[in-house]
Amino acid sequence: MQNIELTDKNFLTSDLIYTCSDIDSNNKIYIIDKLNYLLAELIDLSLTTKQAHWNIRGANFIGIHKMLDNCFNLIIKYQDIIAERVVQLNGIALGTIDSVYNKTSLKHYPCNINNIQNHLKELSRRYNIVSTNNRKIINDIKDVVTADILIDSSRALDQCLWLIESNIEKNL
Ligand SMILES: [Fe+2]
Repeated sequence: MQNIELTDKNFLTSDLIYTCSDIDSNNKIYIIDKLNYLLAELIDLSLTTKQAHWNIRGANFIGIHKMLDNCFNLIIKYQDIIAERVVQLNGIALGTIDSVYNKTSLKHYPCNINNIQNHLKELSRRYNIVSTNNRKIINDIKDVVTADILIDSSRALDQCLWLIESNIEKNL
């Protein structure tokens, strides 16, 4: 039996997985790599959204606490869809903590804040980065079905960004 080595650089298609998909194999590897990169950022983003959901304090707590859970649920929905697209392309979805740590471009989230406005500003920067990266991948890949999935995830990210930014007071 062939061994499959998993490293952070090895995004892998696997000969062990049978597929009839006729997408060119080089194109598949390229798409799998991009999707695993986006998957890592979405997992990072979902964890930071929960971090804020748990720790915020201040005016309008309950509205923002619930809003952040709505964003979390949207993000994990697309984590799942994107991870399953990787596997449909004969790849291995990389969702472990070490894969996320190695692939994400997001900065460490500060754990020493609790003010709602500070959390919202930190989150908005990260949602904007992931949304921008998601859009770049749509333009880079040559597979309309995957692109269609990423247009949906882009829409969800932009909706969350709008919800978060709408609660940021410009002068605070
Ligand atoms: Fe909760």
